[in-house]
Order: sequence, then C-alpha cells, then structure tokens
Amino acid sequence: MSNPQILLKARPAGRPGPEHFEFVESAMPAPGRGEVLLRHRFLSLDPYMRGRMDDTASYAAPVALGGVMEGECVAEVLESQHDGFAPGDWVRGARGWQGFSAAHGSSLVKIPKDGGGVSHSAYLGVLGMPGTTAWVGVTEIGRPKPGDVFVVSAASGAVGGVAGQIARKYGCRVIGIAGGPEKCRYVKDVLGFDDCLDHRGDLPAALDAACPDGIDVYFENVGGPVQEAVLPRMRAFGRIAFCGSVATYNTRPLPPGPNLSILTRRKLTLQGFIVSDHPLAWPVWRERGAAWLRDGSLKFKEDVVEGLQNAPDAFVGLLEGKNFGKLVIKI
Ligand SMILES: NC(=O)c1ccc[n+]([C@@H]2O[C@H](COP(=O)([O-])OP(=O)(O)OC[C@H]3O[C@@H](n4cnc5c(N)ncnc54)[C@H](OP(=O)(O)O)[C@@H]3O)[C@@H](O)[C@H]2O)c1
Repeated sequence: MSNPQILLKARPAGRPGPEHFEFVESAMPAPGRGEVLLRHRFLSLDPYMRGRMDDTASYAAPVALGGVMEGECVAEVLESQHDGFAPGDWVRGARGWQGFSAAHGSSLVKIPKDGGGVSHSAYLGVLGMPGTTAWVGVTEIGRPKPGDVFVVSAASGAVGGVAGQIARKYGCRVIGIAGGPEKCRYVKDVLGFDDCLDHRGDLPAALDAACPDGIDVYFENVGGPVQEAVLPRMRAFGRIAFCGSVATYNTRPLPPGPNLSILTRRKLTLQGFIVSDHPLAWPVWRERGAAWLRDGSLKFKEDVVEGLQNAPDAFVGLLEGKNFGKLVIKI
C-alpha cells in the first residue's frame, strides 16, 4: 500500500492551477512512540490555503516547496502507540492533503465514532474551524445586540452561513450577501436570514434598500467591491469583524491603496473614535497631564501668531504643515 499525497510544486503568481501541484505516491508512514497511524477520511479545503502557497510573512509559515499541502482532516485510527487512542477511533487534525499520516496523539482531537448526530465531515465545517471562526467573530468582535442590522458576506459559505445564524439568535436583523440567485435563495429560505443580496447586481442600491438606516455589524469575508459597498453604510459605533478577504487572495499585483487584509493577517484592532464621545476622559487627562507637566516628563510647544486678522492665513498654513507646534492666535 502507498500513501497518495499532493505536494506544492510551484508558487502561483495569481490564480493557482494544476501546474502548482504534484500528485505522488509515497511510502506508508510508520507510527513511532506516542503516535497513531491515521487513514484520512475527509480533507477540508479552505481559502487560507491560498496564503500558504505564497512565500510571504503571515500569521503562519508557508508550505515549503515540495512539501505536502496543509489542511485539516477527519481521520480514522488504524494503529495506535498512544494510550489515549485505539484503532477505530475518529479524530480531527491538521494532517495535510494526503491519504494517511502518522501523528502524535497530542496533535489530535477525538470526535465521536458515530459522528454524534452529524456527519464526520461536519467537524471540518460547522463544528470545526469555520464554525468556530463564525462564533468568535460574531460574539467577540461583532458584539451583536437585539435589533442590530448585521451584514455578512460570503453568506452561503462555511463561515458566513454560521455567522448569520448566530447573529439571528442574538436578535439581529441579518442581511447576507452572496453570489447569484440560487445562493441567495438558500441563505434566506434554508438558513433563515432576513434577506440576502446578490453582489453580482447593484449592491450599493440593494444595501440602501435593505438597510436604509445603515449597518451596525459587518462580518467581512470577501473584501474587494463588496467591502467598498458596505463600509460607507456602517453606522456610528458599528463593529466590523474582519475575518477574511477571499476576493483578493489571487489578485496580483494588489490594487493601489491600503490592503486591509493585513488587519486579519496581523490580528489588528482598528477602531475609529471621536474625543467628544469620551466626556469622562477629560478630567482624568487634565489631572494626569498637569502632573506630568509639573514633573517635566511631558513637553509641549506652541506656535503663537499675533492678531485675529492673521487667523485665516494661519489656518490655511496649518493645513499645509506650516505651523510648528500647537497653533494659537494671540488676540
Ligand atoms: N480569520 C480567520 O480565522 C478565518 C477562518 C476561516 C475563514 N476565514 C476567512 O473567511 C472567509 C470565508 O471563508 P469560508 O471558509 O466560509 O469560505 P467558503 O465557504 O469557501 O466561501 C467562500 C465564498 O467566498 C465568496 N467569494 C469568493 N470569491 C469571491 C469574489 N471574488 N467576490 C465575492 N465573493 C467571493 C464566494 O461566495 P459568493 O459566491 O456568495 O460570493 C465563495 O463561495 C474567507 O475570507 C476566509 O479566508 C478566516
């Protein structure tokens, strides 16, 4: 018996094709101490894998050229040299695009042998990484409140479909965005979203009609033109769970302007604010700032212009960087 494997043969410059992969038959792996021999039953294919094909800095190392493509599997234990596992057990683990592997028991999570009421493959989707992603993005970042307008892109997908259903359970009005009438019908009729808009049509107009008062939470999965349509429609104090931007993963060179996918890759927090919404901070800062001024650890510089009549010129200069320090007019 041999082990079928798919290797990364070359790094794509844009859209991956068959020339970037290589199918090989390798020797069967042999489990060592603490390891189990796995027969892979299901392999998850996910958008993040496109990033692993590039040799660029990200939150995870790229797949090496000639290495087995990475991916999560649901597998059956054939042999065990680990006390916690026995032949016939079912597990989930990051075992790659291959038919068999030998894995240390500590890297595996057991799943019910009979699936526990769902298919074994569901542990790669709704009860696996994508479902957990939806849960984290909605509850920890979206922070939904009853009555919020919650918009999610790639709404028929593994993450988006779950995210929208969780938001419905929190009492939100949930609007999906998906590609084509069939997906939109599924999102509304089967997943139970309040509405689903087709991004292949006039999405800005559809968003205006579906969310006339704006959007409180956006669960971002695709980026690109969908993102461009949604962002200007966010309401004050809205939240965006910047989960991914699959529409841009094959785009090379990247279009001009900031590439917001870095928000996801570096797990950044980006929050707009206006100081007047923070009245309690004013007296706190006055006291803290005054103390730091007194002990000399806080410095400041003023640019004082004499005469009210000079205010217009000074103001125009301010917008061109001509002031040096806090600009004030001495009247
Ligand atoms: N941050 C995390 O930890 C994390 C974890 C998992 C996934 N993700 C991200 O979550 C997003 C969704 O992942 P998933 O697993 O749900 O994927 P999925 O089920 O495979 O769905 C992907 C969907 O994205 C949409 N799409 C693809 N290209 C598009 C384009 N050019 N323009 C607009 N829509 C496009 C398509 O739906 P339509 O035809 O409906 O547009 C496609 O079906 C991805 O960005 C992924 O990278 C992030």
